[in-house]
Amino acid sequence: MAVLIKGKDLSAKIVEKIRQEVLNQERKPTLVVIIVGNNPASRIYVSKKKHTAELAGFNSRVIELEESINQEDLEKQIEILNLDTNVNGILVQLPLPKHINAYAIIEKILPQKDVDGLHPVNIGRLAIGLKPYAISCTPYGIIKLLEENNIEIEGKHAVIIGRSNIVGKPLSYLLLNRNATVTVCHSKTKNLPEIASQADILVAAVGIPKFVKADWIKEEAVVIDVGINRMEDGKLLGDVDFEEVEKKAGYITPVPGGVGPMTIAMLLSNTLELFKLQNL
Ligand code: GUN
Repeated sequence: MAVLIKGKDLSAKIVEKIRQEVLNQERKPTLVVIIVGNNPASRIYVSKKKHTAELAGFNSRVIELEESINQEDLEKQIEILNLDTNVNGILVQLPLPKHINAYAIIEKILPQKDVDGLHPVNIGRLAIGLKPYAISCTPYGIIKLLEENNIEIEGKHAVIIGRSNIVGKPLSYLLLNRNATVTVCHSKTKNLPEIASQADILVAAVGIPKFVKADWIKEEAVVIDVGINRMEDGKLLGDVDFEEVEKKAGYITPVPGGVGPMTIAMLLSNTLELFKLQNL
């Protein structure tokens, strides 16, 4: 039976450490989250981010904008926050409505305030092995989980299922920079089960419930489940068939309580780092 990697516990530890550090500061870090429209999942994520930021002693503000906002007005909003020296971190919750060019919006955020680490400057720095201002929160959280559990990365074959800009790609750079051999799979990949079964570290980030089956798993592999799929009955399911896979894997993250809480912990950690950088 696999060892459970409890992101919830590590996240609580990180948030508490941040809270202690902020407690001793005269000024508090300020995080601003922009949400556009009424996506119910986004609303839940954003309220969790705000709640946890306040728990850590941060100033936190959510700017709620109408679904119908145009590109220019959204960009103006970001420019105002870029210029506001009281704002340390800016996060635009994704996905954005279809009529908005999300890449152009992310590019408007000052890289020094991009708490999500999604600006091309930050992704680019990560890709060439330089220190970014911030590292994408979910991939960074996954690395912290591996480190906390003393799971070696160097020389291991890591297979990532999913090539998103928010998880798959930045995670591939983080793992490569730590000398893993990395394979990134996606919807056009052939022989996916065969490739997955070669993984020492398998990361599922596809958004399909129970997509990864037990016979795709190498004995004792480390299985990281990034999926958060809400079922009709309200239950959350990961991308991994947990009940079957946990019998075969060496380590596994649960859903909920695995990768999810780490994303928020790393968001706060990034906000604090940017705050310190801006107040040198
Ligand atoms: N939507 C889902 N996950 C994320 C995230 O980590 N950052 C942002 N900005 N939007 C998201």
